[in-house]
Amino acid sequence: MAEASGTAQYIEVRNLTKAFDELVVLNDISFNIDRGELVSIVGPTGCGKTTFMNTLSKLIPATAGDIWINGEPADPRTHNIAYVFQEPTSLPWRKVRDNVAYGMEVKHVPQKEKNERLDRILDLVGLADCADLYPNQISASMEQRIAVARAFATDPDLLLMDEPYGQLDIKLRYYLEDELIRLWQKLKATVIFVTHNIEEAVYLAERILVLSNKPTTIKGDIRVDLPRPRDYLDPDFIRIRKEVTDMIRWW
Ligand SMILES: Nc1ncnc2c1ncn2[C@@H]1O[C@H](COP(=O)(O)OP(=O)(O)OP(=O)(O)O)[C@@H](O)[C@H]1O
Ligand SMILES: [Mg+2]
Repeated sequence: MAEASGTAQYIEVRNLTKAFDELVVLNDISFNIDRGELVSIVGPTGCGKTTFMNTLSKLIPATAGDIWINGEPADPRTHNIAYVFQEPTSLPWRKVRDNVAYGMEVKHVPQKEKNERLDRILDLVGLADCADLYPNQISASMEQRIAVARAFATDPDLLLMDEPYGQLDIKLRYYLEDELIRLWQKLKATVIFVTHNIEEAVYLAERILVLSNKPTTIKGDIRVDLPRPRDYLDPDFIRIRKEVTDMIRWW
């Protein structure tokens, strides 16, 4: 195992490999992420995006390799790694407010701070008006906002999002992407956002990691240096979108 060094990157993924019996899904993946970066991961269907997030979050063990956070091996007992799944995951018996607070309860955030953060987050994600409703009384997009708000509220060391808006129609998706950028800018989280939607990756990310087919490696690391708010019709936006598309299509 490599030693932590004074010059360690904020997030370091080193030689990560994950196999299910004979099937090698992730094949010796290494990359670094700076604190506060919003990185998007795109790749073909079934290449191992969810496996990758599950391994990073320590939900499943890696076959080989390590993840380091701030110079220490990632450990769910000492690091706060938040995970927003593709499907909404609210607890039906809890009001919206208590669903958003849930992550902070698990992390034992003191009561006063919890309430302050809760009010701020509910406001930021536009859930303040329905804070006292139950999940079955709100729409699917509202429910996904609960998951995003719950994750940001815990002030995570690393926030993992696995295609959180994949099920939503395009208008809602645009809306929630802007909301995510606002949250990320205000709360300064370090975010890894998985999507198969290249346009979404170019709109959101500061950097895009492009995955290959299995056994999966990183075949591209593209910086998206465009001003925000980004314009889908800007020639530079279209150029980067094409670069990522060609990488997935032809390599
Ligand atoms: N627990 C498991 N046991 C065996 N094989 C698995 C397991 N989990 C995932 N796989 C396999 O690993 C590969 C990657 O699956 P994964 O769900 O990570 O891909 P993905 O890129 O997230 O796919 P999608 O684009 O459909 O979301 C697939 O071939 C899948 O069958
Ligand atoms: Mg997946």
